[in-house]
Amino acid sequence: MTQCCINPSILSADFVNLEAELQRISTADAVHVDVMDNHFVPNLTIGLPVVQRIQAVSPIPLDAHLMIADADRWAPGFADAGLASVTFHAEASIAPVKLARELRTRGSKAGMALRPATPVEPYLDMLSELDMLLIMTVEPGFGGQAFLDLTLPKIRRARAAIDGSGAGVAIQVDGGITEETIVRAAEAGATIFVAGSAVYGADDPAAAIERLRVQGSR
Ligand code: DX5
Ligand code: ZN
Repeated sequence: MTQCCINPSILSADFVNLEAELQRISTADAVHVDVMDNHFVPNLTIGLPVVQRIQAVSPIPLDAHLMIADADRWAPGFADAGLASVTFHAEASIAPVKLARELRTRGSKAGMALRPATPVEPYLDMLSELDMLLIMTVEPGFGGQAFLDLTLPKIRRARAAIDGSGAGVAIQVDGGITEETIVRAAEAGATIFVAGSAVYGADDPAAAIERLRVQGSR
């Protein structure tokens, strides 16, 4: 059986008690940190100084999701902060191959994200430059949205291309992941699942993580 990874999103956490909120998800594989700039997406969250503090106190690795314009300029600083993985949006990068290499050089795993409407095909020849492909299953910008089933064929195509290429790229999905939708995303080929409301909206986040882990493993 392939064990999946569950990465709770702190977007759904209490931002005034971040250290305690991190402890509540300490059994997760990584904490997903959503950085938004009000340009790439119509929402604004936290920047590098807060992410650095999260990195300093988190009991688990950080998985940053940068929903920011001009990723080529800003993403390397997050890798310099020692984050386990840094994911930029393909739509926000002028030179994605160069940026992915730079993230790896600086010691982070390199992730690249695609909006629901962005096809994966133009990026298949750069798979070997990536550790992770993030296929958004909602329009980026807000937590608590419904999972878009129209993204499932893209997940399947990405899975087939990755398996065919022999590149060790993980497929992450983000948005609307619940105990129900995680099954469809896992069947399509995703192995890393971001969950905001499904974890932090639960009375017992640790139990919610475990249930998602069971449902998402194949
Ligand atoms: C949305 C963010 C997600 C969000 C997921 O743009 O990238 O990480 O927090 O939240 P849920 O799981 O509630 O859809
Ligand atoms: Zn995210």
